[in-house]
Parts: sequence; C-alpha cells; structure tokens
Amino acid sequence: MPAARMVTLNNKTITIDDGMRARILDEMPEIRWIADAALRDGVTDAWAAAVASSSLSRIGDMKPSGNYDSRPLRSGSQADHIRSVTRMAVKIAEEFAQLFPGFTVDRDILIAGSLCHDIGKVWEFDPENVRRWKAAPRKVGVPSLRHPGYGIHICLTMGLPEAVAHMAAAHSGEGELLTRSLENTILHWADYTFWRVVEAGDLFADTDRWLEQPN
Ligand SMILES: [Fe+2]
Repeated sequence: MPAARMVTLNNKTITIDDGMRARILDEMPEIRWIADAALRDGVTDAWAAAVASSSLSRIGDMKPSGNYDSRPLRSGSQADHIRSVTRMAVKIAEEFAQLFPGFTVDRDILIAGSLCHDIGKVWEFDPENVRRWKAAPRKVGVPSLRHPGYGIHICLTMGLPEAVAHMAAAHSGEGELLTRSLENTILHWADYTFWRVVEAGDLFADTDRWLEQPN
C-alpha cells in the first residue's frame, strides 16, 4: 500500500488513507484488474479523493443514472453501472483479440479509463450542488459542469494518464467533437449499451424520487 497522500480538490484538503482506499476497492473490486501498480493506486486514490471532495460518503450514494436528471435504475447503484460498463468493455476487447490477432488494445488503460469514466458524477450528482443549481438556474448553469468536465479536473489533478482523462472527458456526447481513442471507443459503446439494455429490459425505475426531494 502506498503512503497516505494529501491532495486539494474542490477547495478541500484531503488526506487519502488506507481506510478510504479499502472502501473504494470494496465498492469497485475491478480496480485490482489493473496490472500496473502505479495506475491501480492512481485510480484508487482518484476515487477516494473524488468521494471525499463531495458531500457523498461512498460511490453508491450517487443516484444510479446516466445524468443527474435522467431516470435511475430500479435497483443497483452507480458503482454497479461503472463496474458493469468496465466488465463489458473488457469483454469487447477480449472478443476482438481472440478473433483478430492484429488487434491490440491497452488493457490497463481500458480498465482504468472505464472505471474513471463517470468519476465527475461526484460533482454533477452531488445533492448539495443540484439543490444550489436549481435554486438559481442562471447563476452558474444547471449543472454548472457535466460529469465529463469535472472528470477531467479530477483525473488531471490526481495525475492520471492523459489517455484516462480523455476517456472521462469524451466517453459521451462531448466525444462527438473529437476523435476518440480505441479504448474510449470501446468504453463509449459499452456505456451506451448499458443504458439501452436497461431501457429495453425495463430496469429503469418508474418514478424518480431523487429529484422529488425538497430543495
Ligand atoms: Fe457511464
């Protein structure tokens, strides 16, 4: 285990300790699939700092949806979404590698980027932020930053590779403005597949109680 690490995120000074790391690894065990130790620790620390920078106490406290105002899952958490997308992305890469010997993908970057793709939701989905934005919609926007935007901030602040920041930045609509990397292309379709299958499989909740909470 690396030493405790101090970072500043969202104007908060955060000391990342082993207890915080263990809780992140409990919620997202696929972090252990990353072979490179520095990248594995970097993803763990990025999530630990991301959660600590918000009013949330764990990844699973976030609304389990694609956007702050879209319908949530009937059951399952935001961590389940991120884990499922990561597992699908790895399966897509493995499928191509088996049939097409010339196909090469950076497996560590694929896993790290998939696990971090929605890390910026700690900002977009933070109930305190949503309440603040909705109370004065024209002040800083609603949301002020979507999760890809805040995801870039976290990834770069935490020293994660450019390839991972790119996946947080451009896995969704923002990526239509640029050319996605191979790993981000796989992630993009795994993420969209997740939400399309949820819709077709009737896995969305009938009502959105998250946005019905009083402001
Ligand atoms: Fe996602």
